[in-house]
Amino acid sequence: MDTKLLDKIAALKLERRAVILAHNYQPDEIQDLADFAGDSLGLSIQASQTEADVIVFCGVRFMAETAVILSPDKTVLMPEPTAGCPMADMITAEQLRDLKSQHPDALVVCYVNSTAEVKAESDYCCTSANAVEVVRSLPAGKKILFVPDQHLGRFVQEQTGRDMVLWPGYCSTHVFIGADDVKEARRSNPEAVVLAHPECSEPVKDLADELLSTGQMLKFVETSSVKQFIIATEIGIIHPLKKVRPDAEFIPASLRGVCPNMKKTTLDKLLAALENLQYEVTVPPEIAAKARRSLDRMVEVLP
Ligand code: 13P
Ligand code: SF4
Repeated sequence: MDTKLLDKIAALKLERRAVILAHNYQPDEIQDLADFAGDSLGLSIQASQTEADVIVFCGVRFMAETAVILSPDKTVLMPEPTAGCPMADMITAEQLRDLKSQHPDALVVCYVNSTAEVKAESDYCCTSANAVEVVRSLPAGKKILFVPDQHLGRFVQEQTGRDMVLWPGYCSTHVFIGADDVKEARRSNPEAVVLAHPECSEPVKDLADELLSTGQMLKFVETSSVKQFIIATEIGIIHPLKKVRPDAEFIPASLRGVCPNMKKTTLDKLLAALENLQYEVTVPPEIAAKARRSLDRMVEVLP
């Protein structure tokens, strides 16, 4: 570990009055030096409450945009500006407007993995940690348009029994984790408990013991006495899981569960972000104001 680099980052962070936020899928060394590492809901809450002047967001673009919308007076930086989320780009605001015109009486719930423009067209936003609670809180009998993740949407539909129209988006990383991978891991580790993210495909979810957001996985293992877990999500989560339960074994269901965009952040890029105040993320104010309503509702309905 380059301690000089770490010292420089720490000194600049103080000078800039910056806070470093990192998602649970970020490279280990980025998670380790972050002021807060967590899931999308936890990061949104941190971004909305921070007193820092600058937020350095180590994650993907929709997360940094969410921080801009929730903290409009802060400077939000992404160390790597091309780190996007393919799922978030699977529905445009225009496509959502079209869908709404086909179902004029429905309410729109968008997964936080969406663009600011799509959030601005939505009534409610949710993360995988509170999607079920958000949908349950909506008036009974109302049809719900759920975008963009069909897999999270189907999980919510099963849990709530609500009338939902699901947009056919998906996570291009989670779909690499196959049911055969989970079956094989189970065969080799018959005592293990399988934890899967709701973004996984239905055959994988059917094999899981628990369906949890990354933050919920951390809470779950902390209080569990089980010693072996098979983890069906992006492999970055294994690092914080091990920190929470050093005595337990965490077996990735598949080593193909790697989000290339999450891995674009490096310590050098983080240093450059603090040095040059780059790359600033902005959201047009009229879009931000509309998106804020759906995000505020998300943060209000805690899991
Ligand atoms: P959570 O950490 O909120 O479970 O989200 C997973 C994810 O895919 C973020 O892109
Ligand atoms: Fe997007 Fe999937 Fe990567 Fe999450 S893991 S940022 S949903 S591509």
